[in-house]
Amino acid sequence: MDTSLSVDAARLWRALETLGEIGAYTDERTGLRGVNRLALTPADGEGRRHVVEQMRALGLAVTIDRIGNVFGRRAGLDDTLAPVMMGSHIDSVPTAGRFDGCLGVLGALECLATLGDHGVVTRRPIVAAFFTDEEGARFGTDMLGSAVATGRLALEDAYALRDRQGVSVREALGDIGFIGEADERLAAPHAYLECHIEQGPVLAAHGREIGVVTGVQGISWHEVTIQGKAAHAGTTPMELRADAGIVAARINLHLREMIRSGRFGADMRATMGALVPYPGLVNIVPGRVVCTVDLRNPDDALMRAAEAEVLRFYAQVAAEEKVELTWRQTARTEHVAFSSVVMERVAAAAAARGLSHEHIISGAGHDCQEMARLCPAGMVFVPGLYEGISHNPREYSTPEACAAGVSVLLDVLRDLAA
Ligand code: GLV
Ligand code: MN
Ligand code: MN
Repeated sequence: MDTSLSVDAARLWRALETLGEIGAYTDERTGLRGVNRLALTPADGEGRRHVVEQMRALGLAVTIDRIGNVFGRRAGLDDTLAPVMMGSHIDSVPTAGRFDGCLGVLGALECLATLGDHGVVTRRPIVAAFFTDEEGARFGTDMLGSAVATGRLALEDAYALRDRQGVSVREALGDIGFIGEADERLAAPHAYLECHIEQGPVLAAHGREIGVVTGVQGISWHEVTIQGKAAHAGTTPMELRADAGIVAARINLHLREMIRSGRFGADMRATMGALVPYPGLVNIVPGRVVCTVDLRNPDDALMRAAEAEVLRFYAQVAAEEKVELTWRQTARTEHVAFSSVVMERVAAAAAARGLSHEHIISGAGHDCQEMARLCPAGMVFVPGLYEGISHNPREYSTPEACAAGVSVLLDVLRDLAA
């Protein structure tokens, strides 16, 4: 493994800081600087235009597809060959740090800048990409752009998704000027690589510098609407109520009981991350609640069993509490295993650089899991500080850790594009 070139840590860090100022806000409670570049908002548009400018400054040929995915291509010696693609996303949850997704996109550009610095031309072309709405925090479906590009989701179905204000993906994409002309179905690259902050505590706890990512666990998202009966909090006897808030609470507690029982494996996770009561006032029994359920499991059979149990409980609790409960699946992906060839190269590059590393499964969803449908794909994780907190302004990794991960990305890129 040729590790003779390393990326410029200071340049990469500056790029992360610069993009991190777009959509930045100061968290009132902690005073920390966070990022809010929710997908297809004006801030996301500004971030996108900034990254496109960086791509053009590197001499890349930029194309945008019909779902707003952006690709910057560097020619190879044999431009008829399938490219090696690197990328991630720059949209964020509304309470993000600077690293989630951005490290993969800016890291890809840093790899290309480093090749340029040294006059290296690869045999294969190289494409740096960022995909639309990886987070799913606005329109409810994660990995939206990469799922469309790789054929899991139809373009028209993606366009039709709406946010809570009723704005569709198509309208929002048009508003920020990112409905491109390129075919949304991506031709298979030779390979796909993504560098990402771990977003969890494992690598730091084990004192490791690099994670060789084995794959991504299954994800199942529900949006649940509970329709009960609004009533006066002071005058309505408890036994006459149909309290939608109680039902949401019981579902949440049942999820915790499912995890604690161990029936769905030690790695099962469940979260009720959103819970909106209507009308949401101190002295009114909530007549309606809209809430979400996020299930994760690396084992597909255990995930299916957990989903079946959740559905049984929805029916049971609705009957017991005399409410109407409806639910819809907003996202669903199975466990995805990454390419053993890419894993072996990532491990070899880390070893050749003297970086400690271990194999790790991703708890979070990533565009790479969609790209794995098209070509050999894999990821490099870098450790995060503060117990790996992510989707939070405290998300942090060091300049050295980021540069180490992106240098490993560069090694594997050079190997695969040679
Ligand atoms: C993506 O960030 C996820 O929720 O896994
Ligand atoms: Mn991400
Ligand atoms: Mn994320």
